[in-house]
Amino acid sequence: MEYQTILVEQRERVGLITLNRPKALNALNDALIDELGAALDSFEADDGIGAIVITGSEKAFAAGADISAMAGWDYVDVYKSDFITRNWERVRRARKPIIAAVAGFALGGGCELAMMCDIIIAADTAKFGQPEVKLGILPGAGGTQRLPRAVGKAKAMDLCLTARFMDATEAEKAGLVSRVVPAERVLEEALGAAQAIASYSLPIVMMIKESINRAYESPLSEGLLFERRVFHAAFSLADKREGMAAFLEKRAAKFSHR
Ligand code: HXC
Repeated sequence: MEYQTILVEQRERVGLITLNRPKALNALNDALIDELGAALDSFEADDGIGAIVITGSEKAFAAGADISAMAGWDYVDVYKSDFITRNWERVRRARKPIIAAVAGFALGGGCELAMMCDIIIAADTAKFGQPEVKLGILPGAGGTQRLPRAVGKAKAMDLCLTARFMDATEAEKAGLVSRVVPAERVLEEALGAAQAIASYSLPIVMMIKESINRAYESPLSEGLLFERRVFHAAFSLADKREGMAAFLEKRAAKFSHR
């Protein structure tokens, strides 16, 4: 498929999506989010892909939803089109792990898109923020919900209410990002992590993602029960037999990903 706003490629078992509207600092318009969804559909349907990386440019992961587009919309427009549920939710529904490799600005919808991913790996140049308050709106793609879960109420309030940006060091300390690396290595680091994930059993990787996400949706006792059920199910997989046999035979496992 021909994409206009993103670049899509495959690196071994990893699907790489590069947001590509450089003139607008990767502002996230409808066309881009639709294309991102289409790329995710095709990676998710492909057994040769075990993990996905989403990245932007050196200057911006994404500077937010497209303000030029939003400027012309009123209540009835966003209500009728169901902005943002219609297409943004595709990222959240992904079952394969997604890593965001973030350099430069990740603001507003850009920060929210990164937070929809499963892991954020940041360049030392990364800047995260929810500056919607300055535009007379509020975060609408999970900023007021995922940010406090990631960094706690105090910092989430601070960022959303003052519109200040948080640098990579602060973001790592606060728990928003899992690793910070020099900017020139951020994509390599994310691809390396994605290749490691993609080398493991795909159904197991998906079960881990699903179980960790359950931690956010349920009380501890329900989450533990969910984990136990999935843990028991894992014992039915050929990849479990292979993983344990490989350990005992002191060799690398060769997972079938099935
Ligand atoms: C549309 C944008 C944009 C955006 C930048 N641009 N961000 N266009 N939507 N979100 C465009 C600029 O208009 C400009 O176009 C070009 O990108 C370069 O940007 P500059 O401002 O010249 O760059 P710089 O001075 O380096 O400043 C970078 C910046 C600033 C700090 C990131 O661009 C900025 O504050 N952008 C807006 C950030 C923001 O408010 N994000 C939240 C959006 S609301 P021209 O044509 O002039 O060169 C949101 C709501 C989410 O995300 C709701 C759910 C999805």
